[in-house]
Amino acid sequence: MASAPSRPAEAATAEVVHIVGARPNFVKAAPVVAALAERGVQQAVVHTGQHYDDRMSAVFFRELGLPRPDVDLGVGSGSHAEQTAALMVGLEREFIERSPGFVIVYGDVNSTLAAALVAAKLHIPVAHVEAGLRSFDMTMPEEVNRRVTDQLSDLCFATSPEAVGHLANEGVDVERVHLVGNPMIDTLLAHLDRFDVDALRSRLDLPGTYLTATLHRPANVDDPAIVARLVARLHEVADDVDIVMPVHPRGRAAFEAAGLGRHERVRLLEPLGYIDFVTLVRGAAAVVTDSGGVQEETTILGVPCLTLRPNTERPVTITHGTNRLVVDSELPGLVAKILAGDGLGGTSISDVPPLWDGQAGRRIAAVLASELV
Ligand code: UD1
Ligand code: UDP
Repeated sequence: MASAPSRPAEAATAEVVHIVGARPNFVKAAPVVAALAERGVQQAVVHTGQHYDDRMSAVFFRELGLPRPDVDLGVGSGSHAEQTAALMVGLEREFIERSPGFVIVYGDVNSTLAAALVAAKLHIPVAHVEAGLRSFDMTMPEEVNRRVTDQLSDLCFATSPEAVGHLANEGVDVERVHLVGNPMIDTLLAHLDRFDVDALRSRLDLPGTYLTATLHRPANVDDPAIVARLVARLHEVADDVDIVMPVHPRGRAAFEAAGLGRHERVRLLEPLGYIDFVTLVRGAAAVVTDSGGVQEETTILGVPCLTLRPNTERPVTITHGTNRLVVDSELPGLVAKILAGDGLGGTSISDVPPLWDGQAGRRIAAVLASELV
């Protein structure tokens, strides 16, 4: 078997290559790609194909002004080892052919980890957008991916001050770390006037008051016993208020098998495109979720967010936002409070997190441009 060559430094091109593969990557990459384009930087978008359904992938390119991927590796689904191995093989070929000047990776998905590993071994510099987040829960695949990616990255772009602290604690050289704000919030603010709740309400025939739910973490959706318990709890909540839930493909079969849609006030939808989904969140009385990005978006939209997890890598959404960690037994009581106008009771809602101002993409582009000269 051939041994993979490392790249001599002089072979590097000026091209910046973005690695995207899963739904949240697209939302984070859009403002970075746009800001680098403003500066005239040569760039390419490599889609790994980790997510591939139109509603998990292509819709974001159509809606967010992202350029069509220059290549789609078509890796698809599999076990962690199968998927990560296929990602690495495809990315290695691509990187050797392109010889990029920088590889940019986003968030904490398997595509992110695979790209960072391959680039590091080829001696291609890596920039990690959304570095330093920590749940301190190594049972989450994302926590493994984040920790390794940060160690391999030459530039770590952090969304919050505590992320900078985590990187420092892990011995990451401060010179590599830049607090830049949150590109996912850049995207939200850039499209704010497209989130028209009244139009969505009439198009989807939404009730006047409703909750939005979205769940996809393995800890919530992979074990049928846990799914059955969550379904019973959501049905209890739905006795009092309608629930609208765009269902992530990971949990669809389990939620259907457990009869989630059998309650007359639970409405299950296909995953929504970004504009419809954020509009659905904006119009909701509250959100029940385990999504990372949704904890951040609700913080800016001021919508109460009940996060069905024992921890969060985004504590800034609790201290500076509307987020609260909950167990399922708390849901009926908390939802009743919110519907009664009592907010989340005890959670103080202060200013939005620092630098979540719509300019993160430009800050990232400025740092990268200075590295590329
Ligand atoms: C992945 C990320 C997770 C992120 C989530 C965002 C990892 C380890 N996990 O989880 O951090 O929060 O994306 O949504 O990278 N599937 C489809 N169609 C698709 C994509 C997936 O049907 O377009 C189904 C397949 O059955 C697949 C399953 O969803 O096996 C899981 O997909 P995968 O990409 O492995 O992980 P996610 O749970 O989506
Ligand atoms: N999202 C979407 N449609 C949906 C559910 C989520 O467009 O049906 C968006 C959401 O607004 C956020 C991103 O997808 O911008 C978050 O992705 P996800 O929850 O899949 O991943 P996580 O953030 O948990 O990694």
